[in-house]
Amino acid sequence: MANDNKLQNIIAHCKEYGFIFQSSEIYDGLSAVYDYGQYGSELKKNIRDYWWKSMTQMQDNIVGIDAAIFMHPTVWKASGHVDNFSDPMIDNKDSKKRYRVDHLIEGYAETLPEADAKSLLQKMDELLAKDDFAGLKTLIEDNKIKCAVSGTANWTDVRQFNLMFSTEMGAVASDNPEENKVYLRPETAQGIFVNFLNVQKTGRMKIPFGIAQTGKAFRNEIVARGFIFRMREFEQMEMQFFVRPGTQKEWYEHWKEARMKWHLSLGISPERYRFHDHVKLAHYADAACDIEYDFPMGFKEVEGIHSRTDFDLKNHQQYSGKKLTYFDTELNQHYVPYVVETSIGLDRTVMMLLSEAYEEQDLSTDEKQDSRVVLKFPPLVAPIKLAILPLTKKDGMPEIARQLMDECKPYFKCFYEEKDSIGKRYRRQDAIGTPFCVTIDGQTKEDNTVTIRHRDDMTQERVTLSSVKDIVLKAMQV
Ligand code: GAP
Repeated sequence: MANDNKLQNIIAHCKEYGFIFQSSEIYDGLSAVYDYGQYGSELKKNIRDYWWKSMTQMQDNIVGIDAAIFMHPTVWKASGHVDNFSDPMIDNKDSKKRYRVDHLIEGYAETLPEADAKSLLQKMDELLAKDDFAGLKTLIEDNKIKCAVSGTANWTDVRQFNLMFSTEMGAVASDNPEENKVYLRPETAQGIFVNFLNVQKTGRMKIPFGIAQTGKAFRNEIVARGFIFRMREFEQMEMQFFVRPGTQKEWYEHWKEARMKWHLSLGISPERYRFHDHVKLAHYADAACDIEYDFPMGFKEVEGIHSRTDFDLKNHQQYSGKKLTYFDTELNQHYVPYVVETSIGLDRTVMMLLSEAYEEQDLSTDEKQDSRVVLKFPPLVAPIKLAILPLTKKDGMPEIARQLMDECKPYFKCFYEEKDSIGKRYRRQDAIGTPFCVTIDGQTKEDNTVTIRHRDDMTQERVTLSSVKDIVLKAMQV
């Protein structure tokens, strides 16, 4: 299957089986905004819970918070987002279509032989690093890069375009809209920085320590594409680790390794990942890299690890006029801590797990044509862990099935179904990634055993009714 097809097939599958829908679909959708359906929201929640557990419960020195989406507007001045959170854009004068300059050049590079593409991208990186907008325009013109819509190379100058959404707070209309302007946060991290001292003091936290949070972030992405890869409303899972100045390099290396381990713990093979060091560092960083995963459209960022120095806390200190220092009792010294951040997109992780899990299998034999689509999710994140299927609606089978449901549902999500042939029911569970199906049949009443079917190899075994819950719980461990 070509990888382009794979992405299209995943998108269609997600819609057909209740994972992900286009937002406001009955109104023809809202671009780059998506809704999670009954199985998608379970999958997303399971990933979020696993991240939260790994980053808080399993750590001695990291606590979680839940900060608001709206923040004081000066936060975004201090963080640099008002002045710097922008991408260089270029418009095609004929089609009026706006492009992110790097995406336009990268798209063109894909059509070139490897060596030419490499040299073009290298030139682009150098110009981006210097914010050389005139040079970028010349590069586009020299390569005769055309707009996909108009087919012309009639370009405007390259300009910066801020990615933050804003709205007005309060009911009173003001003559000066800037007065009531608030932003929808473009990252969750700032909610952690402004609460640094609140948490440190109330939690009696000692450096090094971390603060984690998950939540929505909003970016007015110009080129939003790749399904849930680049959205305008998305969710982040971020952790800021506060350290002694001078120790940030070793903590940066620590978190690079720890986060890669987390990814591998999802059962994904190391060849599917790579680190990508940033050449052009963000305005706040002294080192940064991405963990990239091999998506159907190629290796792309799923998580960023950033050594953010004391940039954010120092700026908040300056803009708020409030001291944000920590007293280190071992050094007998006050200082503004340095920060190493891990920042992973939840939706991108959903997409990573979907890409990894999705398989189309031809099961044809000499006798008959057969195939299935299976989502091989790790049991921990699978939306449904166990399907409970009475073979028929007679002979007390539904009653036994319901009893098993009652026993298991406090521990994990189960699904009960008694309609259709058992084969059809298995296929539906394969398609949503349920790792186990249990069939209650005539023999169950006699000897308290059931058939348990394993999703990945479709093998079946006879086990006791009382062991089912523990089999599933054991498989959910990572
Ligand atoms: N606080 C640092 C920060 O926000 P980032 O690299 O801009 O860093 C972190 O974003 C992660 O958030 C990315 O690795 C990606 O997984 C996710 N992300 C960023 N923009 C996104 C978008 N438009 N749609 C979906 N996920 C996005």
